[in-house]
Amino acid sequence: MTANNNIPPTTHSGLIAWVDEVTALCQPDQVHWCDGSQEEYDRLCEEMVASGTFIRLNPVKRPGSFLSLSDPSDVARVEDSTFICSKNKEDAGPTNNWADPASMKETLTGLFRGCMRGRTLYVIPFSMGPIGSPIAHIGIEISDSPYVAVNMRIMTRMGSKVLEQLGADGDFVPCLHSVGKPLEPGEQDVAWPCNKTQKYIVHFPETREIWSYGSGYGGNALLGKKCFALRIASTIAREEGWLAEHMLILGIESPQGEKAYIAAAFPSACGKTNLAMLVPPEAFAGWKITTIGDDIAWIKPGKDGRLYAINPEAGFFGVAPGTSEKSNPNAMATLHSNCIYTNVGLTPDGDVWWEGMTKEPPERLTDWQGREWTPQIAKETGAKAAHPNSRFTAPATQCPSIDSAWEDPQGVPISAFIFGGRRATTVPLVFEAFNWNYGVYAAATLGSETTAASIGAVGKVRRDPMGMLPFCGYHMGDYFNHWLKMGHIIEHPPHIFCVNWFRLDEKGNFMWPGFGENMRVLKWIVDRVNGRVGARQTALGWMPRYEDMDWNGLPSISPEDFQELMHVDTDQWQQELSLHTELFDKLQERLPRQLVLKRELMNMRLWK
Ligand code: OXD
Ligand code: MN
Repeated sequence: MTANNNIPPTTHSGLIAWVDEVTALCQPDQVHWCDGSQEEYDRLCEEMVASGTFIRLNPVKRPGSFLSLSDPSDVARVEDSTFICSKNKEDAGPTNNWADPASMKETLTGLFRGCMRGRTLYVIPFSMGPIGSPIAHIGIEISDSPYVAVNMRIMTRMGSKVLEQLGADGDFVPCLHSVGKPLEPGEQDVAWPCNKTQKYIVHFPETREIWSYGSGYGGNALLGKKCFALRIASTIAREEGWLAEHMLILGIESPQGEKAYIAAAFPSACGKTNLAMLVPPEAFAGWKITTIGDDIAWIKPGKDGRLYAINPEAGFFGVAPGTSEKSNPNAMATLHSNCIYTNVGLTPDGDVWWEGMTKEPPERLTDWQGREWTPQIAKETGAKAAHPNSRFTAPATQCPSIDSAWEDPQGVPISAFIFGGRRATTVPLVFEAFNWNYGVYAAATLGSETTAASIGAVGKVRRDPMGMLPFCGYHMGDYFNHWLKMGHIIEHPPHIFCVNWFRLDEKGNFMWPGFGENMRVLKWIVDRVNGRVGARQTALGWMPRYEDMDWNGLPSISPEDFQELMHVDTDQWQQELSLHTELFDKLQERLPRQLVLKRELMNMRLWK
């Protein structure tokens, strides 16, 4: 018997056959084809309130918004259980976990057999990018999680419109997901079903398929995001001559109406959302920062020799802790309604709270594990109200700084790339690469302290090339080669810059105020692109002198402070270069020679 009790709203025989095949394998009680309507969304949310997966928030303070608390074993991306299953092990490269595609399919088929018993199978058609855009691609996620279905409606263009665009024979990436917790007849479900012991996030780049088992959280489960828009898309981009990157996209507009777009790559939880929604300081009256995207950019060469970028997503899945009126007023305004919160604290009046949201914490609340929390308990036990990787899912259309061109199917022209990490020492506030190839070197050797976005140690420096270490779907050496090639294919490659907002002084205080003040760095970058401002040459690249930056309204940074912030310590950089070798050595013969050469040149410059 097939459990398909809902007539497929499509004539796409390949899609119908796949859904039938998965239905037969997973044995759900029901099949539901998502239409993406508001009614459907409301009904699913209501059902989740009834089942305990969702808590409805205060309808006056947070209209149309819900809180979900996950299982404590399912709180972040699981990089150790993420696989790239290319035919040849070599093609996945040393930075990815590899498994043989045939044996992994066998393992997964075993796990998926009967895994949706007692549940509904949701068919979730989605478009990454504006529907019909020449840069967009379609995916179909099958999931047994209504939480995934409603999050996907915020994060992507989801539903019937996508099936229309797909037609009878369009291409789609099949994305199969299960929480891995079948229900026995009469078994009571839990609020956050998942598989506590077995998780697999698996990509088959050659056949462009995704299978994800055991987790309901974020990038493990919302398969349009990291799995499709980065890991699978990066392999498609390499084949087709474009870039799929872990980058925000922002617009910067001067009081004279001159506008430029910048794409910036940072590892997870390093402030991409804050930078994408930056509010310029008061002294920059008339300047505007606008938001195209906060996490992923798909970038294709345009006919005019420039690179054009779209945000393939339709919402923000942002890290909640640290988000406040001070750090990101635009995000706070975006969160006024119609959002889903996961693993934040719940106040007695039905509102949400997380560390850093307000200066004064609430007197008491229920923490992300459903326990009583007070500032005193926090002091005594270190308990957090919100998990450090707790998230909000928010519609991009609600963002006050959203750019008028954010849904332009052609994308926006990119003038500069920024690469940044979280580094307490060594790396100065900003420098500009001398040229494209050296910029690729600097991006390829990016280091950053690890954050809570992934399970594992927090605060350890690791090499995170282009912020893509967990997201590149193929061999990192080939990825560097692809980047080098792109700079030569396009006539007007963007300038490349590196930044570090996180340098500490000897007492452990941040040397740079960050947030809105990052505007000063963005202005210098745009002025450099337009050839309007000076710089000095250093071993690392072009760096602003004190007088090259606009200090209006920020007297707290003296020329001496700035010198400290920009200091390039030869010993530290010698050590840094040896760490670059660690990553490069692993890439062996696939490491582009161009990058070896750049390293040698840098070495020579440091000893000069
Ligand atoms: C994210 C991440 O969720 O990078 O965006 O982990
Ligand atoms: Mn990210």
